[in-house]
Amino acid sequence: MPVPLLDLRAQHATIRDEVVRDLMRVVDDQLFILGEPVERLEKSVAELSKTKYAIGCANGTDAILLSLRALDIGRGDEVVTTPFTFFATAGTVHNVGATPVFVDIEPDTFNISADAVRAAIGPKTKAVIPVDLFGQMAAIERVEAAAPGIPIIEDAAQSIGAKRRIGNDWVMAGERTTVGTLSFFPSKNLGAYGDAGMILTQDEALATRLKRLRVHGGAKTYYHDEVGYNSRLDALQAAVLQAKLPHLEAWSAKRRANAVYYDRAFADLADVKTPYVEPCNVSIFNQYTVRVARRDALQSFLKEKGIGNSIYYPLPLHLQPCFAYLGYKVGSCPESERAAGEVLSLPIYPELEQSQLDEVISAVRAFYGR
Ligand SMILES: Cc1ncc(COP(=O)(O)O)c(C=O)c1O
Repeated sequence: MPVPLLDLRAQHATIRDEVVRDLMRVVDDQLFILGEPVERLEKSVAELSKTKYAIGCANGTDAILLSLRALDIGRGDEVVTTPFTFFATAGTVHNVGATPVFVDIEPDTFNISADAVRAAIGPKTKAVIPVDLFGQMAAIERVEAAAPGIPIIEDAAQSIGAKRRIGNDWVMAGERTTVGTLSFFPSKNLGAYGDAGMILTQDEALATRLKRLRVHGGAKTYYHDEVGYNSRLDALQAAVLQAKLPHLEAWSAKRRANAVYYDRAFADLADVKTPYVEPCNVSIFNQYTVRVARRDALQSFLKEKGIGNSIYYPLPLHLQPCFAYLGYKVGSCPESERAAGEVLSLPIYPELEQSQLDEVISAVRAFYGR
């Protein structure tokens, strides 16, 4: 029986009536741009993330781009970030005219190394972008300590609702940093039926500026204080996300339960290193990513057996052709490069049935002769 990496239709089938009802409400009202559906979602996501403000925008990429602009980052500035992430994290830095400075990751969590951040800070550093990769928050308090006084844009595209214990407090993804950015790309734990994104902040002035930047830089229609973008969160997508939001916690809990099941099933395989979640973190497992021996051969074997899988990410950003101008070489970020050669993500979505989980496990075990 084939097992897909992700089955969005399985999820849609469980919520179809609620989603279609709420979508039709927007269609009947014919109010498609911002307005009540978007404001309601912004309020709900701000509550979930414990932030004062949440500003909807067109996608998770724009959430980072708008944040960089709101922090006045541009030509001549440097932004320190990880190369082991989706392209948007650094593509946006380039697109505002600034220079991405790539530093290596911690090998166990795949998240940015705070020590590496500290070593990269210089007079031109205007922000740090840690990424909460695969559903697990980065060590943001260590990044803060490594970059005192420097704004932090937490790329939480994969980690809505993740939390981390810092001292005695549980901190939500995007709650504590200068801004947190979210993506509602369909494959995220909270996925739209198209593109959508959001920016979280506790800072009123930043929130005001971000709201202006997403509508061509004008607080008042047809008057422009600065040049912004057309980057609104679509009202139809807001309705979808609002209908799905009450299910998010249960979906993420099911992903965690699936992860525990896999962890146990692979525990005796020396060739499979299961994901490490720091004891102070609660991951939402947007991906279940293992490090394995003979990765490419395992991938072909699983493909043959119809087991969905993917490599996030096969080429770290510092080695991407488009960033050759920055002068990084093989060996510049060795942990990211090693991870790129060893990782494989397996199906983890909440609607997986027991028989499907077992199918994935048998296939992986069979490859290693167990
Ligand atoms: C880590 C990370 N950053 C940024 C993004 C960009 O989000 P979007 O695809 O909504 O533009 C994504 C989404 O794929 C992501 O995974």
